[in-house]
Amino acid sequence: MPAKFVKTHILTNIPIRITAHTPAHIPNVFFLEEGGNTRLVTKNLTPNIQVYGEKLITVDGIEYRLWSHHRSKLAGMIEKGMNLPFREDSRVLYLGAASGTTASHVSDIVENGRVFAVEFSPRTMRDLINVCSHRSNMVPIFADAGKPGSYKAIAGSVDVIYQDVAQPNQAEIALINAREFLKEGGYLVMVIKARSVDSTVNPKIVYEQELDKLGKEFNLLDKKVLRPYHPDHLAVIAQKT
Ligand SMILES: C[S@@+](CC[C@H](N)C(=O)[O-])C[C@H]1O[C@@H](n2cnc3c(N)ncnc32)[C@H](O)[C@@H]1O
Repeated sequence: MPAKFVKTHILTNIPIRITAHTPAHIPNVFFLEEGGNTRLVTKNLTPNIQVYGEKLITVDGIEYRLWSHHRSKLAGMIEKGMNLPFREDSRVLYLGAASGTTASHVSDIVENGRVFAVEFSPRTMRDLINVCSHRSNMVPIFADAGKPGSYKAIAGSVDVIYQDVAQPNQAEIALINAREFLKEGGYLVMVIKARSVDSTVNPKIVYEQELDKLGKEFNLLDKKVLRPYHPDHLAVIAQKT
């Protein structure tokens, strides 16, 4: 979409523009231009409600939430131009939701879908439940992502698995969840954290080993190191064969 003048900031007089959908046309994700800065935002599914103190900006009657690539690896993937396979009605299994920071932006994106948010830390789970209580398309699941049988009855089949668990057996966790929940032709979006798999080995070797494991059941579509936002993290997009 071409640059569209929308309004002038009420205090600073700086013009704010919604410049474009992201290159991959991810639903409800935009670049917002303000005072020479271009920043990633999602359209807020729950107007007037902040999740983690993020800035809310209303343009032309629509409220957006700023989404920083420093706080979110998924935002970093979008900034790096990766073609994320979300639709407005996607059912997403989110493994390693923590307190719901990134998961809430996924909830904005798949506004007519579902986000099944799995987390096993009791402390962060409390925050996650609070986030989900405001968002009708989010379902919190207190479970170990390494034991998908324990949430089989809740999640059902999904279009996308997003995984950010920082565990030594990351690839195995992705594979067992994909076998249980992912539709044929569905997508895996995952972040391989080299230091969590083996901190003694060169990250490039760790990435190759993990990709080999995934390659037996997935077609690799894209991969990018998230430097400088998240060093030693490889973002991967793959499709179930
Ligand atoms: C890097 S943080 C996730 C950050 C989150 N994705 C975000 O961007 O807001 C990793 C999270 O995964 C959780 N985790 C790690 N292993 C897990 C497992 N086996 N099952 C469920 N959650 C797990 C941790 O408790 C932690 O909250």
